[in-house]
Formats: sequence, C-alpha cells, structure tokens
Amino acid sequence: MRIRKAVFPVAGLGTRFLPASKVVPKEMLPLIDRPLIQYAVEEAVEAGCDTLVFITNRYKHAIADYFDKAYELEAKLEAAGKHELLEMVRDILPRHVQTVFVTQHEALGLGHAVLCARAIVGDEPFAVLLPDDMIWNRGRGALQQMADIAERDAASVIAVEDVPREHTHRYGIVSAERVDDHLARVRGVIEKPRPEVAPSTLAIVGRYILSPKIFELLQTTRAGSGGEIQLTDAIAALLRDDPVLAYRFIGRRFDCGNRLGMVQATVHLALEDPELHNAVVAMMRERLALETN
Ligand code: G1P
Repeated sequence: MRIRKAVFPVAGLGTRFLPASKVVPKEMLPLIDRPLIQYAVEEAVEAGCDTLVFITNRYKHAIADYFDKAYELEAKLEAAGKHELLEMVRDILPRHVQTVFVTQHEALGLGHAVLCARAIVGDEPFAVLLPDDMIWNRGRGALQQMADIAERDAASVIAVEDVPREHTHRYGIVSAERVDDHLARVRGVIEKPRPEVAPSTLAIVGRYILSPKIFELLQTTRAGSGGEIQLTDAIAALLRDDPVLAYRFIGRRFDCGNRLGMVQATVHLALEDPELHNAVVAMMRERLALETN
C-alpha cells in the first residue's frame, strides 16, 4: 500500500541554535531563502503524501503560520502585480495537501512524538521525516525511493548511510543482511551505541516508512537511551514479527541539526543555484586564497 501520511516530529528545543531558536523554531531557520522544514515537506509531497502531521509544542506556532494562507500578503502581491512572488507563496503547499498539528505536551522522546500521531495516522503505513536531516538529490527524493520499495516489498523501510565509527553514538545503528548495493534486511537496531560496541557503522538517517504496528509497540516501549522513549527501540521490537529493510538512499544528507551541517547545506544549495553559483565560487576562491597565504 502506498503511504499517504507523513509525520514530522518538530517539538525539539533546538538548543544548538540558541539564541536564534529562542523565538524562531529551528525548523524555520532558512537554508538560503526557504525554511528547513520546507525541504522535508516537499520530499513527502513528492513521495505521494497528502496529509502532513506535525508533532509540535506551544513554542512552534510559526510552523503552523508558515503553512497557513497569508491573506493580506497574497492580496498585496496580487494588487501589485507581483505574480511570481504570489505563486511562490501559494505553492508552499499544493492544494490537495492538508496539514494537521498535534501537540506533544511533554518532551518524552522521538518514539513518544511519533506515538502522538496515532489517532491521525490510524491503521496504515506512514512516513516519518526528521527535518534536521536535509536530503538533497537531483533526481527522485529519498522518501519517494523508499516508498517504492515499501510498496513493492510490503515492508517497513528505514533510510541508512555509513558513518565514521567514532560517530555511532549519535545515531541509531543497524545490523543487517545485504540484499543488494542499496538494500539490506534489518536484523537488529540499537540507539546511539558507543563506537566500541556498535554492531556496524550503518546509521539510521531521519526517514522512515513504518507499519502502523509500531504504535502498539511504542505504547509499551520504556525510556531508553538518554532517558527518552526511542523510536529505534520500537523498531527493534517490530523486527521480531515484521520485515524491516534498510535502504541506502541515492542523495546527499546534510545534518542540519548542528551548525556545521547548516553551513554545508547552505553552501551546497548556493552552488547548485544558477543565480548564486558564480558569485559564491568567486567569493570562496578569494577567501581560500587568504587562508593559504
Ligand atoms: C534520531 C534517532 C536516531 C537517528 C537520528 C537521525 O536521533 O533517534 O536513531 O539515527 O535521529 O538523524 P536524534 O538526532 O534525534 O538524537
């Protein structure tokens, strides 16, 4: 079955981006001129999702405002004949897509955030996207690639990529049996293992397509790594009865949950933008010349 619903856990505090994140949710920080959340939303819509569920908290109203209709702005742009800008503002979400906002009252972890979407998602496979992981690809987006596999193999699918062993403590780590260059059968998952005990260096990246059975399992998942209810632990339980595939997506991931990742993503997008490309290359050349002198 094709996924239709996408869950965006966006209730985190974003402390790495203080002081900006004191008033601007980190998901609204821009990569050039589009907020981070927009990239994940477009990936979900491209993959066929028409219901976007945001798990949010009382400090994140800006996210709902961003996806809402801006009557005054649209009227002004229309009156001024600024049609291109008007289209841009209207195209933030295609008309057939609806948004749902669910409050996570307590920050009990990613697993708990996903469980908050249960009443909206119901009994069908669904996607989870962590907007911090920005995945860029010239062709089909990562979630669309995963949705095709989930549908074909009637399985849950989690996105993975290789990370340096010294970074395993930042990720959910998978042990898996290879199927082909991109696909493996997951045998185990563990949240944030230390490098010495990590079963592999294959890390979970913030894209999941999950069977609705995950909700029952989340209900009984106890606090794990970091004292939080972990999605990874519920996936470990799901594995016992259900097929879960690890998919090495085609594309490049930027970890926009930290400052360096934000810079890398910004530079990458600037270099991919025909209007900015030359000026940015010139600026970098000049700056690097100073660096080596
Ligand atoms: C979460 C997940 C982790 C995953 C990571 C990907 O961790 O718990 O399994 O590898 O996202 O970005 P977080 O980054 O929220 O600590």
